[in-house]
Amino acid sequence: MEFRDVLQNRRSVREYQDTPIEPQIVQSLIDEAILAPSAVNSQPWEFWVVLGRQRIDDLSDRAKAWLVEKVAHDPTAEAGYQRQHLARPELSLLYHAPALVLVAAKSFEKQSDEDCCLAAFSLMLSARDSQLGTCWIGLTRPWFNLPATKRELGIPETASVVAPLVLGYPKEWPETPGRNPAAIHWVR
Ligand SMILES: Cc1cc2nc3c(=O)[nH]c(=O)nc-3n(C[C@H](O)[C@H](O)[C@H](O)COP(=O)(O)O)c2cc1C
Repeated sequence: MEFRDVLQNRRSVREYQDTPIEPQIVQSLIDEAILAPSAVNSQPWEFWVVLGRQRIDDLSDRAKAWLVEKVAHDPTAEAGYQRQHLARPELSLLYHAPALVLVAAKSFEKQSDEDCCLAAFSLMLSARDSQLGTCWIGLTRPWFNLPATKRELGIPETASVVAPLVLGYPKEWPETPGRNPAAIHWVR
């Protein structure tokens, strides 16, 4: 695809085909993700990949149950919004995707989160170029960073999950939710 078409037509995809994702496909997306810039070229990222809808559905269900409990008695407006969102019984946080990539910072170095965000977005753009949909699932980040979840997935305590990304062939490409005009302040 033309670069501008990739940028303009990437969408967060929340409905996926059953088609499994082969490891080589994820490998090639990660090979491109790590072309992202990083502070002093520190490349502080590591990637944990889960393939298979059944395994991902199980993670999704447990993340959801944990979040429901977490926001149950939280009086903040954000928790109220999350309670409403999570109350939909049909909601799968990881959208029954066939692949999950956790972009993680391998240490708590300054700027590692920024570096991982850039790698994550590069992966999302590469995926779009290969006709694959992605969605960044920020809601699940705290659950993936729990010591018990990290232990289960083999993520060291010293690493920090920054970007949980689901991946797969979309059922269809959604419409854009649109963008507000950029607020640009020309400083003279
Ligand atoms: C940091 C971050 C966290 C996000 N978390 C979620 C999430 O938990 N669940 C979800 O469905 N979408 C999530 N999204 C996707 C956004 O809702 C989406 O990017 C936005 O609505 C714009 O739509 P587009 O990506 O199709 O342009 C997240 C996106 C980002 C960048």
